[in-house]
Amino acid sequence: MARRIAVIVGSLRKASWTRKVAQVLIQLAPGSLQPEIIEIGQLPLYNQDLDDGGTPPEAWTVFRERVRTYDGVLFVTPEYNRSVPGVLKNAIDVGSRPYGKSAWDRKPGAVISVSPGAVGGFGANHHLRQSLVFLNVPCLQVPEAYVGGIASKCDEEGVLTDDSTLGFLRKFMTAFAEWVERNAVASGVG
Ligand SMILES: Cc1cc2nc3c(=O)[nH]c(=O)nc-3n(C[C@H](O)[C@H](O)[C@H](O)COP(=O)(O)O)c2cc1C
Repeated sequence: MARRIAVIVGSLRKASWTRKVAQVLIQLAPGSLQPEIIEIGQLPLYNQDLDDGGTPPEAWTVFRERVRTYDGVLFVTPEYNRSVPGVLKNAIDVGSRPYGKSAWDRKPGAVISVSPGAVGGFGANHHLRQSLVFLNVPCLQVPEAYVGGIASKCDEEGVLTDDSTLGFLRKFMTAFAEWVERNAVASGVG
């Protein structure tokens, strides 16, 4: 059976480049993976009081339970001020609590950053990886994926047409599928 993958997109923008890349990654995934985007824009800002004796918002609970059902997680993020957008960090924080019950724990993961700029979101990519170490998400190391100059790789309708980028994204998803298999037993989904 195909491994179900939660795809988390770090932009809420309607015309987001990052979401476009996420959609292409979903299309290019090998048959052993079944990826789908799970939304994060509905999550109220994290407030620890609501987990410590308060009432957690329904949207947090639904998100945490949903994340737990997946076999792996793929983060596709833009870069804001050389880090991850707050909306993505909020989703990561929400999923990580209550303490000791993180929904991310041991799920095989991968990170890909996207930017119209030349650096390809390197800063966001590595800040995110830092959190994933703490969250015990075994994260695909190579190929590293910093997709820069994204606007120039798309046609006028915003469709990703650059062959070399498409080839790279396919290779990335194949490597991620192998990574998910290799880490599946450890994550309890094997
Ligand atoms: C608050 C903010 C900070 C940004 N900081 C960076 C940055 O550090 N590096 C970068 O490459 N682009 C930066 N950008 C430009 C984004 O890469 C660009 O807006 C991109 O389109 C966002 O991704 P999206 O198209 O998926 O929404 C920033 C944009 C905003 C709104």
